Amino acid sequence: MAANKKLLMLPGDGIGPEVMAEVRRIIGWMDKRRHVSFDVAEDIIGGCCIDAHGTPLRDETVADAKAADAVLLGAVGGPKWDNVAFDIRPEAGLLRIRKDLGLFANLRPAIVFDALADASSLKREIVSGLDILIVRELTGGIYFGEPRGVETLPDGTRRGFNTLVYTTPEVERIVRVGFELAQKRSKKLCSIDKANVLESTKMWREEAERIKGDYADVALSHMLVDNAAMQLIRDPKQFDVIVTTNMFGDILSDAASMATGSLGMLPSASLGAPDASGRRNALYEPVHGTAPDIAGQGKANPLAMLLSFAMMLRYSFDMEEDATLVEGAVEAVLDAGLRTGDIMSRGRTLVSTGGMGEAVTAELDRRAA
Ligand code: IPM
Ligand code: MG
Repeated sequence: MAANKKLLMLPGDGIGPEVMAEVRRIIGWMDKRRHVSFDVAEDIIGGCCIDAHGTPLRDETVADAKAADAVLLGAVGGPKWDNVAFDIRPEAGLLRIRKDLGLFANLRPAIVFDALADASSLKREIVSGLDILIVRELTGGIYFGEPRGVETLPDGTRRGFNTLVYTTPEVERIVRVGFELAQKRSKKLCSIDKANVLESTKMWREEAERIKGDYADVALSHMLVDNAAMQLIRDPKQFDVIVTTNMFGDILSDAASMATGSLGMLPSASLGAPDASGRRNALYEPVHGTAPDIAGQGKANPLAMLLSFAMMLRYSFDMEEDATLVEGAVEAVLDAGLRTGDIMSRGRTLVSTGGMGEAVTAELDRRAA
């Protein structure tokens, strides 16, 4: 199969470039062995872009990202940029690219690989076999609501404020994504809100109830976010697909990651609305951050990045077989006992970032032979 798939790589800061290098390795393998040609361009985002251009994201990068079939992003930020102006922080670049590309649907699967069930901070029986999907709204809510800011009142008091706002179309499109994904899985959707306190999320709940008639095969439930945080730790397997707001999704996905053993294991896909031809903007990134404490040392776990690449194969290119191949290779390498530091336990073999990528590639070779 020959295809020319345009990718834009934005490795970013900290461990971003190291984990992205392992994607390059897999792409090199696929070019050779699977005859899929990827046309890869690379650019900068985040702190490194602030250093080079005084802004975390340039307009031309946004244009290139829109023109690409898919964007792969490492991670952005780090202590070096803690004191730059708030609106040009590295994180602002990430938020802008999500917003400008219209990536409203953020899919964050939390899957426990059997070999890692003991790396979880929860008991094996609570997490083993866990496979949930958090669908996080990504371009609205309190992250983007206006007004926002910090003002100084006449008496010298400072007042900081943000606005949690959702419109019905914003809620409807993300909740529909939740329903559609639930239809392909166990047909259970849990919508998470704070409807007992926040009007905007009470409206969210009402919208979900209104829409559910279109998905008669899916059982919709609702949960308040505080309870959901507790239930995710108590009994995560009660969930299948979760749909929630931008900020609640940010928080709950970090919590869910611990069930899987490490934040270094969680991939994500951020998708825009499909156009008439079915094409959609898409960005794939690990849920983890830049891990400045271990950056540049070859200690980072590249698996979340590789699993994000697998999500790209599935969601942007409909390459289900190749996606499963990569995911299967990751699982096999874990089964064989290879571990980066974040998931290391007694009796396992500690490998570097590159060592892990190399092992995944070798396993791909074996499987494709
Ligand atoms: C995430 C991150 C980002 C977010 C930060 C880096 C802006 O925590 O993707 O979960 O809050 O969305
Ligand atoms: Mg987060």
